[in-house]
Amino acid sequence: MRIRAAVLEEFGAPLAVQEVELAEPKAGEVLVRLVACGVCHTDLYTASGADPSGYAPTVLGHEGAGVVERVGDGVASVSPGDHVVTLFSPQCRECVHCRSTRTNLCLAIREQQGQGYLPDGTTRLSRNGEPIRHFMGTSTFAEYTVLPEIALARVSREAPLDGAALFACGLSTGLGAAMKTAAVEPGSTCVVFGAGLVGLGAVAGCRLKGAERIISVDLSEERLELARGQGATETLAGGPDAVERVLERTDGLGADYTFEATGNVAVMRQAVESARMGWGLCTIAGVAGKGETLDIVPRYLITGRRVAGSSFGGVKGRDEVPRLVDRWLAGEIAVEPLLSHRLTLDEVNRGFELMEAQDGIRSVIRFD
Ligand SMILES: NC(=O)c1ccc[n+]([C@@H]2O[C@H](COP(=O)([O-])OP(=O)(O)OC[C@H]3O[C@@H](n4cnc5c(N)ncnc54)[C@H](O)[C@@H]3O)[C@@H](O)[C@H]2O)c1
Ligand SMILES: [Zn+2]
Ligand SMILES: [Zn+2]
Repeated sequence: MRIRAAVLEEFGAPLAVQEVELAEPKAGEVLVRLVACGVCHTDLYTASGADPSGYAPTVLGHEGAGVVERVGDGVASVSPGDHVVTLFSPQCRECVHCRSTRTNLCLAIREQQGQGYLPDGTTRLSRNGEPIRHFMGTSTFAEYTVLPEIALARVSREAPLDGAALFACGLSTGLGAAMKTAAVEPGSTCVVFGAGLVGLGAVAGCRLKGAERIISVDLSEERLELARGQGATETLAGGPDAVERVLERTDGLGADYTFEATGNVAVMRQAVESARMGWGLCTIAGVAGKGETLDIVPRYLITGRRVAGSSFGGVKGRDEVPRLVDRWLAGEIAVEPLLSHRLTLDEVNRGFELMEAQDGIRSVIRFD
C-alpha cells in the first residue's frame, strides 16, 4: 500500500513528508494504523546526525499509538481492531532476559532492529523499489507501519490514543524508573533532576509508590509548576549548587532515591552526590551525548550509594504498559497536562522546533 510518512533523507535537513510503499505484514508481524505519535528527543538526535548509529533514508518516529489493521501468519496476541502502543523496547517473553524479572532488555530482535530491519533482516518500507529502513523497530511518523508482534502492547480501548502515545517512550520511562528500576519504598524522600516528560513521569511514579517527599529540580519555573501537578511536594532551581541545596533539605545526608532525567552528565553526577550515604540509590534515565562519561568520586559508592541505569524505565512493555495505561484511566496519572501541542504529520519539523525551544512537554502528531 502507499502511505504518507516523514522520511529522514539527509542528516541535519528537515524531514520530508512524502508517499512511500509499505508491504503487507509477514509472519509474526502486524500492520498498524497510527492515530497518534509523540515527537521525542531520540528522533531529533538521529535526524541531526549526532547519533553515531543513525542511518538514512529511514522513517523516524517511535512514540506511536494506533489500531491493528491486519496481522501476519501466527500472530496470536493482537487482532484487528485492537488498540496498541508501539514498543521500541520489545518483549518476546522467551529470551533469557524476558524470563528474568531483573531486566526488560529483550534480546530477541536487538541486532536487526538496531540496523533498521525487521526480524527477518528485510524492510517493509520502500520507495521506487529501493528499501527504506525502519527506525527503532517502529517508524511511526507514518499513517501506517508494520512491526513485529512482540513490539506491541495491547491497551484499553477506553484510552484516548494521543495520551496513550506518551506511554510508548518518555512517560513509561519516568514512571518505570521510579516504580520498577528504583522500586521506591513508601515514606521515602526522592529527588528528581529534570522535569521534562521523563522527569515528570518519575515524579508521578514516586508518588504512586507512596514517597513522602518528592523534590523536583529543573531550570524552568514553568516545568517545576507541572512537577507540582504530578505530585512533587517541593521544587528546587537547578544549577551548580543543587547538591548543597538538596543536602540542606535532607539533614545533610541526601535522599533515599535520586533520579536523573536531563541527559547532562554534570547533572548525573549531582544526582549521584544527592543520594544518601548508606543506601541512597541514584537512577540514571537521561541519554548522554556521544563520548561523554560520568564522573563519580568512588568514595560516594564505598559509603553505600548505588547507581542504576534505566532503559524504558525497566518496563516490560507488553505486560506492563497496559497496566500503566489502566492507572491513567483510573485517574492516578495526569496525562493531559503533558500533551502540549497537537500537530499534523506535515508539521513534524515544527514538532522538532517546539522541542528545541522547550515549548511544552510533548508535541503529538495526530493522523485523523
Ligand atoms: N532511558 C530511556 O529509555 C529514555 C527514554 C526517553 C528519553 N530518555 C532521555 O531522558 C532525558 C530526558 O528526556 P525528556 O524528554 O524528559 O527531555 P526534556 O529535554 O524535555 O527534559 C529535560 C529537562 O532537564 C532540565 N534540565 C536541564 N539542565 C538541568 C539542570 N542543570 N538541572 C536540572 N534540570 C535541568 C531541562 O530544563 C528540562 O526540563 C533525555 O536525555 C532523553 O534522551 C531516556
Ligand atoms: Zn522517545
Ligand atoms: Zn525477549
